[in-house]
Amino acid sequence: MELNTLTSSSLPQTKTAALAVGVFTDGILSSAADIIDQASEGAIKAVLKSEFKAAPTTHLVLRNLPGVSAERVVLIGLGKQDAYKASVHADAERTFANYCAKASLREGVSTLAAIECPDSTLSSRAKALAMAAGDATYHYDATLSKKDENPAPKLRKLSLWTDRAQSEEAKAGLREGQAIANGMALTRLLGDLPGNICTPTYLGDTAKQLAEQFNSLQVEVLNQQEIEALGMGSFLSVARGSDEPPVFIVLKHTPSAQNASKGKQDKTAPLVLVGKGLTFDSGGISIKPAKGMDEMKYDMCGAATVLGTLRAVAELDLNREVIGVIASCENMPSGTANKPGDVVTSMSGQTIEILNTDAEGRLVLCDALTYAERFKPAAVIDIATLTGACVVALGHVNTGLFASDDTLAQQLVQAGKQVHDPAWHMPMDDAYQKQLKSRFADIANIGGPSAGAITAACFLSRFTKAYPWAHLDIAGTAWHSGGDNKGASGRPVPLLVQYLIGQAAS
Ligand code: BES
Ligand code: MN
Ligand code: ZN
Repeated sequence: MELNTLTSSSLPQTKTAALAVGVFTDGILSSAADIIDQASEGAIKAVLKSEFKAAPTTHLVLRNLPGVSAERVVLIGLGKQDAYKASVHADAERTFANYCAKASLREGVSTLAAIECPDSTLSSRAKALAMAAGDATYHYDATLSKKDENPAPKLRKLSLWTDRAQSEEAKAGLREGQAIANGMALTRLLGDLPGNICTPTYLGDTAKQLAEQFNSLQVEVLNQQEIEALGMGSFLSVARGSDEPPVFIVLKHTPSAQNASKGKQDKTAPLVLVGKGLTFDSGGISIKPAKGMDEMKYDMCGAATVLGTLRAVAELDLNREVIGVIASCENMPSGTANKPGDVVTSMSGQTIEILNTDAEGRLVLCDALTYAERFKPAAVIDIATLTGACVVALGHVNTGLFASDDTLAQQLVQAGKQVHDPAWHMPMDDAYQKQLKSRFADIANIGGPSAGAITAACFLSRFTKAYPWAHLDIAGTAWHSGGDNKGASGRPVPLLVQYLIGQAAS
């Protein structure tokens, strides 16, 4: 996707397949809409009286307007002017990008980011345009035999109309948005690929490819033996139930020498992202019901988020050391699988009683969180499709955010707001910890029926004492289930990249 700015002052003479202009309800025009309306002798005002009410996420296409060079003017509804805000703008860009993609257009021009918003900058509006373009052009056909019956969108280029004075700010936003969009596309593809293709080994190979593609990235992929040598008894207890070999991935971004030569290479402690990489979660001996079990191929979306985020970090060459850590395996029932009542010893030395083999994510993550101590990190953030309970609590809107550190939690919430990838800070009082008491081990792997997302976070907290830590439960936000729209969402790559941009030295 090519994204650029268009600073030509003559909007009516702009040659393009589609020109997006925003209109508010009650016949109020954005300045771009006004310019086009005047050039076309009132063509826009004429339709506002009747067929177009300008509700958010609606559009109307006007072709071959007199005095206008664009083949189409696409009116985009923005709702009431006094309620206009960043999220309405982001929806508007998505409406336009989706229209362009569905109409098989190759390019378009959007004037929507030029409309001032009370709660966003031009740079973040540019970012929203780039992310909308990425979203609209994501196309899955890896496992379809008749690819031509389901062709990829042709959209190759979107231009952002702005005045010359603000062009640099817009370009900076487009660059960040593009990196986020590229990261999300990788995360979505990995999520959507079936479990028999996207295995732990496949995730390891993807990390290796990223390290080849980007100079700033270095990778290590540890095999079962090496994982054993590290003493990851909890992770391995899950992995052993499957014939598919596990991997443990460490993918490190070191800011480039370019930053160093400017004398401002980052010297602060690294930030570590830890991803749950269950390429399939059957539940194990505590097996899941058959209905919808296919969606447990998405149980590696935490790992996919780590890879997508590191890709964006590398593309932007952020001036901050960022390390991605992924523990990946399958959770299967077998003669070598965990059994309810088994006690395993984690890398930290703490023993764990496995009361439900379907609470495997925490068993895998706890050892990865212990491993992260060696980096003496400034913060560790884990990302996991951890609990159905989180979906009950927050639905598919907010990611569940748990943290041992309020500043870190606030930074993440704030980052999520800026890129329309929201997270909600959940409670994690010590009083919940007692639900994890075990008679036969230091800790049980389930905390009973109440507050399931919180007790899962409490379990992880036992392994994260050495650093500031946050946990993102993405069980409700990493993919859309059922319907036409079924597929990975790419969340929370935007939240994480935005957070990391904020933590990088400029
Ligand atoms: N991967 C699942 C969580 C999940 C379930 C994510 C549904 C998205 C949709 C996780 O491994 C799991 O099975 N968790 C159990 C924990 C329970 C046994 C304490 C759950 O949520 O049911
Ligand atoms: Mn499970
Ligand atoms: Zn799981």
